[in-house]
Amino acid sequence: MTRARFALVLFLSAAVAGSLAMLRGGDSSDAKKDPAVERTRKQVRMLDDLYKTAVVLITEHYVNTEQDLPAGSAAIALFDAMKKKGWHEVRLLDATGEPLEEKNSPADDFEKLAVAKLKAGEAYYDEIIDQGGQRYLRAATPIPVVLKKCAMCHPHYENVAKGKPIGALAYKVPIE
Ligand code: HEC
Repeated sequence: MTRARFALVLFLSAAVAGSLAMLRGGDSSDAKKDPAVERTRKQVRMLDDLYKTAVVLITEHYVNTEQDLPAGSAAIALFDAMKKKGWHEVRLLDATGEPLEEKNSPADDFEKLAVAKLKAGEAYYDEIIDQGGQRYLRAATPIPVVLKKCAMCHPHYENVAKGKPIGALAYKVPIE
């Protein structure tokens, strides 16, 4: 197994562990039996696998120097497009306190609490919110240091303890 592939396998196992944790439900225990909430959680699991797998594959195969477009930047452009089309919102968050772009720092109470929970070892965190009569699932999943290549542009990732997340994906998906 090449090192990159080993990292990918590790990463995917982490993603699967996260998905299993999600199956057990998030913190909103009263909503556990609500089928609409469960469907939305499943949608988040699917999106999380899709986005993370894409970022790892792009970084592995296309990002070779610091001048290349980072997969993270491509993902942010993709998140913008999905938001504009009204599907869902996703934010790429920093969990190290040293983001390359300040706008990627956890911003509101949900993002700050979610990142704190993920750094404390939880594999998933979510909350249900109501905005003008529409319910949304806000959910967060951890991003570990997946490939050595990540540190090419984020050198401080080398100092993060093994297994600790360096970032998170924060989702806001309508509950339908
Ligand atoms: C080619 C350089 C490059 C590589 C390689 C790279 N990144 Fe990034 N990363 C960036 C840039 C630039 C941003 C800021 C993007 C923006 O906000 O538009 C960023 C943003 C991030 C963020 C949001 C927090 C922040 O620092 O702004 C996370 C989390 C992240 N990257 C994780 C990773 C992971 C995990 C990998 C390895 C799979 C990786 N990056 C590889 C350049 C890179």
